[in-house]
Amino acid sequence: MKRQIALGAVASVAASVFVAGLAQAVTAPGDVAFKDGAVAMSLTGQPGSADAGKKVFTTRSEGNCIACHKVSALKDVQFPGNIGPVLDGVGSAYSEAQLRGIVVNAKHMFDGTMMPSFYKVSGFIRPGDDYTGKPAKEIKPILSAQQVEDVVAFLQTLKN
Ligand code: HEC
Repeated sequence: MKRQIALGAVASVAASVFVAGLAQAVTAPGDVAFKDGAVAMSLTGQPGSADAGKKVFTTRSEGNCIACHKVSALKDVQFPGNIGPVLDGVGSAYSEAQLRGIVVNAKHMFDGTMMPSFYKVSGFIRPGDDYTGKPAKEIKPILSAQQVEDVVAFLQTLKN
């Protein structure tokens, strides 16, 4: 138990150092403020790019959202997954802040969901360096703050 708390502290220090290295004021994963599952503030202070977000959404090594979600507008995507709901119309159903909250950490909105948390670096069960028993060298979120904003911009284009 003690050890997990210590590792969490290491992770958040690592994240702050990582973020401090960036020129822009980016909200670190541990500093994201949720309200009812939503995150009101842009993580980068800038609007995202829907085009870049479409790439994050469909690229296996990035968001890979299509592994679980179908979007009818993405006609080129073959065999999208169906573990999660079809995302047509989510830009109408949810506010920008709610969509950001879902992408950052969907567990705030959907308790116990199997959707991954895309902008999180602590609270994992085994944040170690593979099976060596040593703490991880650096824990990075799955998506960068910019990629989260880009995906949110893309989701907002999915109107009814
Ligand atoms: C491992 C599967 C999985 C992946 C990968 C995944 N999701 Fe999800 N997502 C889900 C599930 C399951 C739900 C339904 C929430 C629940 O558990 O009740 C969901 C819900 C959502 C919702 C709310 C939809 C609604 O109609 O309420 C949005 C928006 C969403 N996901 C966006 C994304 C985005 C964007 C990505 C990629 C960055 C992504 N998801 C990746 C499984 C996934």
